Amino acid sequence: MKAQVRWFVCAMAIGSLPAASGGPTDEYELLQPTTIMDAPDAAPQSAGSATVEHGKYMVELLGCGTCHTDGALIGMPRADRRLAGSHIGIAYSDPLTQSLPGIVYPANLTPDVKTGIASWAAEDIVRVIRSGVDPDGRRHVSVMPWPAYAKLSDEDARAIATYLQALPPVEHLVPENVEPGIKATAPFVHFGVYRSRR
Ligand code: HEC
Repeated sequence: MKAQVRWFVCAMAIGSLPAASGGPTDEYELLQPTTIMDAPDAAPQSAGSATVEHGKYMVELLGCGTCHTDGALIGMPRADRRLAGSHIGIAYSDPLTQSLPGIVYPANLTPDVKTGIASWAAEDIVRVIRSGVDPDGRRHVSVMPWPAYAKLSDEDARAIATYLQALPPVEHLVPENVEPGIKATAPFVHFGVYRSRR
């Protein structure tokens, strides 16, 4: 017998819709899943070197701005915060079964000294993109999709780093990550993949 499996991905955000029926999604507003596919352009860049242009191309192709641009996860990217981090987080445990999920906030990727990655060397950026390990040795949860980027060539990964380092710095402090069991004070979305039982 052939199993019929249907998959869907959805993005949800805490929203202002009134609670209705006492169901598990009452506290959430359902968004069009396309919000998470709609990567905004990377930050504007005055004509750069061929490497910078290559990096911009890679960043747009890989959709970094969907998570790392404020508002983009809910379909409202902020043009003044392109790649400067998101104050909308992403739950990495299921908020439907766990009332207080763990949440990560996509980092500010611009070279701002206070709130961005100005102090990172190009190799640090390459390493976190391909292996999730940051300069402090911390491994990022795979919400930052480093497993999907593990096979980037040296040339592509370095071009991304060079491009990020050439961005205009934008001061934007993203909220601190939240451990499971702690109440988040900033909004978040949740990506879920559900398999039908039928
Ligand atoms: C699906 C969402 C998502 C996408 C797409 C994504 N990231 Fe991330 N990224 C994150 C999150 C969330 C974090 C923070 C993770 C944590 O704190 O554990 C992060 C962290 C980072 C960091 C570490 C910064 C720091 O200060 O710790 C870098 C650098 C980074 N991402 C670069 C990129 C690049 C470049 C791309 C595209 C090639 C990309 N990301 C695509 C979600 C994403």
